[in-house]
Amino acid sequence: MMVLEDLFFISSLTATILAVFLAVLILTKFQGKKRYHPIGSTIFHQINNFHRLHDFLADLACNHKTFRLLSIFKTEVFTSDPANVEYILKTNFPNFGKGSHAYENLTDLLGDGIFVVDGEKWKHQRKFASYEFSTKVLRDFSSGVFKANAVKLVRVVAEAAASNESVEIQDLFMKSTLDSVFKVLLGVELDGMCGTSEEGTRFSEAFDTASAKVRYRYVDVFWKIKRFFNIGSEAVLRKCVQDLDEFVYKIIKSKIEQVQNSHPDFLGKKEDVLSRFLELKETDPKYLRDIILSFVIAGKDTTSSTLSWFFYLICKHPDIQEKIAKEVMEATQLSGDQNSISIEELEDRITEESIDKMQFLHATLTETLRIYPAVPLDGKMCFSDDTLPDGFNVKKGDYVAYLPYAMGRMKFLWGDDAEEFRPERWLNENGHFEPESPFKFTAFQAGPRICLGKEFAYRQMKIFCMLLLGCFRFKLSDEKKTVKYRTMLTLAIDGGLHLNATPRMSLG
Ligand code: HEM
Repeated sequence: MMVLEDLFFISSLTATILAVFLAVLILTKFQGKKRYHPIGSTIFHQINNFHRLHDFLADLACNHKTFRLLSIFKTEVFTSDPANVEYILKTNFPNFGKGSHAYENLTDLLGDGIFVVDGEKWKHQRKFASYEFSTKVLRDFSSGVFKANAVKLVRVVAEAAASNESVEIQDLFMKSTLDSVFKVLLGVELDGMCGTSEEGTRFSEAFDTASAKVRYRYVDVFWKIKRFFNIGSEAVLRKCVQDLDEFVYKIIKSKIEQVQNSHPDFLGKKEDVLSRFLELKETDPKYLRDIILSFVIAGKDTTSSTLSWFFYLICKHPDIQEKIAKEVMEATQLSGDQNSISIEELEDRITEESIDKMQFLHATLTETLRIYPAVPLDGKMCFSDDTLPDGFNVKKGDYVAYLPYAMGRMKFLWGDDAEEFRPERWLNENGHFEPESPFKFTAFQAGPRICLGKEFAYRQMKIFCMLLLGCFRFKLSDEKKTVKYRTMLTLAIDGGLHLNATPRMSLG
């Protein structure tokens, strides 16, 4: 995908000249009694640093916990201060929301889904979905789906290991998490991992392309013109959305018919989210399509990128990898001395109880999210003039963002070893996971809009890690290669992650 730099390359000198001009302009505009946060940098420097955006913002956050970027069109305020984060996400929650900008960018794909709307529309879906996401039926069903997909992944890795080939694990995680979330939501097998369903593969490709295209709108100033003329990236987006809709509406309509006709096969099989929504008498296909696609987009790339960074980090820290593998053996009561293992036996031993015992794994996943949060920067629109807890003002229409990536690196929050990967920081003296304030560890957001799939995501990631690390020892294919993120809405590894796996024992 083209990055912003390709579109607007501006040299440092030009950026500085423009910055001075802009500073004069903005200082004139901001004269008055109100106090505004210190200026950290300018939008031009931001563009210049686009390839390392999150590190650029982290560097600025070291100087000021909260700062502004000078821009011509709107003011952007960035904060790493937990008090401000709490105020934006909880205390004065109604004053900071998705706003019109996010809605405009995302609605062609996500309609009026929970991920894009504010106010009453959001409240209704949140209430509706949180009830479903907390049921035991969904927990049991989804655990079965995660295990089945993790086993498929283990088989793909085993095949590569047997022929001494490396695997691009990020791509496999993307396919596998889409398969899982789709099955849990709609009850349908996509099988993007093995590519056995033609319709499923077409959906996966259309969904990935469409999400990349709506994300591209954040950096493409011409997207509205392109949409009007139906050309370029916008023409591709429109076609993908048509394909997606065709597939999803077909599933929704067939489920509605099954419910209305009370088909005997359908009785007793209401495990997926769609069937359960229908049971609650929510039958508007457009409402169901929108909420379901929001969940797909929210749950897929976040989980797969976290798993990818986790594998990168444990390859860099083999001692941590071994400690987790040992924890898997203990939690599943398998002997570390045995020389063969049946994948099915390991799968069977992954129960709610054994997952709960994986405290060090839980800490390591959380430590991964502290350093590489799947959503590295999360912006809200300010709906009316306000004063943040640090005493500085923000204006109606300002973009106010908190910075999970920068916050994970701040010494004032985590101590002198903030930049070190140290899962133990999350464990208490009994070796149990000890959570932090969600306004300090912001990877899942916080307040009324805290991630709805947090427990779901941890369970999925733990099941995948338990099966993979119970079976294999992983190494980076190229230890010397520098691993970087791609600047997008989620923090994926640029170019993927190539790993070599060695079976820990013979696999049956
Ligand atoms: C490691 C995995 C995940 C991380 C780090 C994560 C993080 C987040 C973050 C930061 C937000 C706030 C986004 C925003 O409003 O701007 C969010 C919202 C949300 N997440 Fe997750 N997420 C993860 C996995 C999941 C999964 C697996 C699901 C469900 C299948 C899910 C469902 C949602 C939903 C529905 C929202 C919107 C909540 C609302 O607006 O009320 N997430 N997540």
